[in-house]
Amino acid sequence: MKKIAVFVSGGGSNFIAIHRQIIQGNILGKIVMVFSNNPNCGAIKFAEENSIPIFIINAARYPNAHTRDEFLLETCLKAEIDLICLAGFMKMLPQNIVKQYEYRILNIHPGLLPEFGGKGFYGTRVHEAVINTGKRESGATVHFVDEIYDHGPIILQKKVEVMETDTPESLAARVLKLEHELFPEVVKAFCENKIIMENNKPKILEYNEN
Ligand code: GAR
Repeated sequence: MKKIAVFVSGGGSNFIAIHRQIIQGNILGKIVMVFSNNPNCGAIKFAEENSIPIFIINAARYPNAHTRDEFLLETCLKAEIDLICLAGFMKMLPQNIVKQYEYRILNIHPGLLPEFGGKGFYGTRVHEAVINTGKRESGATVHFVDEIYDHGPIILQKKVEVMETDTPESLAARVLKLEHELFPEVVKAFCENKIIMENNKPKILEYNEN
């Protein structure tokens, strides 16, 4: 049973999707703690309702970023965290965590990386850019986190068609629905030790596309 820490900033629908699959017994893991920069987000409300320990890591709580980073790493190590999931976390993860947890941090991105990723590309901005550049296809990506924002090795992507009539909001809703399948699928594979690195690329063992 893998111990999972989830980082969130917003509504938390991806966090909830992973939690649901765990409760249904489809993922061999347990979400043991939630970290957020935003004490008032939906994800925090859900964690509270489900008695999952919450840690707020904003500047009000930690005026000194170094102290915060030390606390974060120490807390994850003490809890023997196996996997970190960034489920709509809108901040850069501290470098000490990234280094310690190489190939054990997953991020979900609402676009087909490497396109529409990096600084400034998050949430609705990704969908606006996809529509404004006339793309006919978008989707979601789960990748391992490295030192560079939205850059680490891609594990799995799923695609959706972009319609002529799409607005950033309608596209976001369709992509988000896809994210709720994609992220739990990758977390499940991780928890079953089925994600391996082959020639510097992640590979999911026994993966059946359907
Ligand atoms: C999701 O669409 C996720 O891909 C995106 O934020 C949303 C969070 O929704 N993440 C990023 O843009 C990170 N760069 P949620 O809080 O409902 O899961």
